[in-house]
Amino acid sequence: ATQAATAQLHADQPGPTIPRYIYGQFSEHLGSGIYDGIWVGEKSSIPNVRGIRSDVVRALRELKVPLIRWPGGCFADDYNWRDGIGPRDKRPGRKNNWWTGKHESNQFGTHEFMDFAEQVGADAYIGVNLGSAPPRDMRDWMEYMTSDGDNALANERRRNGRDQPFKVPVVGIGNESWGCGGNMRPEYYADEYRRFQTFFHNNGQAAPAAIRVASGADREDYNWTDVVMKQAGAKLDALSLHYYTLPPADWKEGGKATRFSKEEWVAILAGALRIDDIIRRHAAIMDKYDPKKRVGLYVDEWGTWYRSDSGKFDWDLRQQNTLRDGVVAAAHFNIFHRHTDRVKQTSIAQTMNVLQAMILTDGPKMVLTPTYYAFKMYVPFQDATALPLDVSSPSYRLGATAIPSINASAAKGKDGKIYIGIANMNPDDNVQFSVNLGTLAATKVSGQVLTAQQMDQFNEFGKSPAVAAQPYRGATLANGALTLDLPAKSVVVVGLE
Ligand code: AHR
Repeated sequence: ATQAATAQLHADQPGPTIPRYIYGQFSEHLGSGIYDGIWVGEKSSIPNVRGIRSDVVRALRELKVPLIRWPGGCFADDYNWRDGIGPRDKRPGRKNNWWTGKHESNQFGTHEFMDFAEQVGADAYIGVNLGSAPPRDMRDWMEYMTSDGDNALANERRRNGRDQPFKVPVVGIGNESWGCGGNMRPEYYADEYRRFQTFFHNNGQAAPAAIRVASGADREDYNWTDVVMKQAGAKLDALSLHYYTLPPADWKEGGKATRFSKEEWVAILAGALRIDDIIRRHAAIMDKYDPKKRVGLYVDEWGTWYRSDSGKFDWDLRQQNTLRDGVVAAAHFNIFHRHTDRVKQTSIAQTMNVLQAMILTDGPKMVLTPTYYAFKMYVPFQDATALPLDVSSPSYRLGATAIPSINASAAKGKDGKIYIGIANMNPDDNVQFSVNLGTLAATKVSGQVLTAQQMDQFNEFGKSPAVAAQPYRGATLANGALTLDLPAKSVVVVGLE
């Protein structure tokens, strides 16, 4: 069957810019997120530049990754930055306490991360330790990375091979401080944050000063946002929010990443869509204390969280990534685009081999996931101007759960083209989507589509990808209206000129 959906585009009512940081990444010392995924070492037979995988860098450059958050996550509040600098053969091995107690060789530290970010062309978002270190560690690390002066820390950095200061435009001060970052109450965290930011120095980094991101709420913990904004809102530049799309089961139980039922398709999509309302409610609290919207909401961890490849829960958090994940990613993008008056940054968890990854590796092999392709298709939305798109969509219902079939957003790209991104979340039906273009006189349309035969189709090592962006031929333009024939379970991005 085919469903019908409509939309009205308001090209004459430009909204806020969609900051490119909305398309940020997160890479943590967890499972094979860093080692094997990014770092193979200079002596590896896997092609690398200064120890960093060339295949991965090449693929990430295609995504125009604007920002990478590192070193955690939970890892950040247990990390001593000093372990990761200086000659690599002298660095101490440590136990990675949050993630299986696995050996942490510290071969990948500050200089290696910065090299990786620079190779990819991304800005650095550094997470500093508030949970288990004094403010002096943060102070010293910042000075080590960013000072241009003649002082011991900057000189140590120079001796370690980096003359020019690193650029650190974004700094997270604590991570999940309500949990792995210290099990703090919001009142206590707000005080700790105030104390830490007192010792946060910009070290003459070129303006604008680094953005200080306070550790934010988990999901629907609105009290956290309220208390931190009330007590520390004037002293922070951004507040984070973490929202994972978890199946209804207990998070350690996990839902299936592949071979799931249609009920599980709908449950995951419905779960992903909830972020819209959750952002709205956190933003409304922030409005109370910051009506001018100076403080950004940074959704610096989001994505699907399933049971691991092994079928059981394991702390490496490595999961398969199917067409469903590509659709989940597109729905998030569309939602984020609608909240860019407040949401200025997001990071999907995580870049490599962990949770909803862009790329999976196995030794020298690498595979791009459907999520990777969704990111790639949405590149034109980076730094574009959001345009209102009023969508009227039929629903897809299964049992007690209903989701709208269509989730979409529009923007004017930096290249002057108008882009519309759509997730058809209906797993069964094509949707004929008629968009009234209003004042826009377009004469040409082209686009890309991500879809597959099976809803749990994924890409396998050594095979040509079963789920990859393909040229889209389902668009027609006539009399100021755009009609899109959207395949069931698909992502489509079209550009109009
Ligand atoms: O992304 C995996 C983990 O999830 C992060 O380390 C932590 O911040 C969150 O709980």
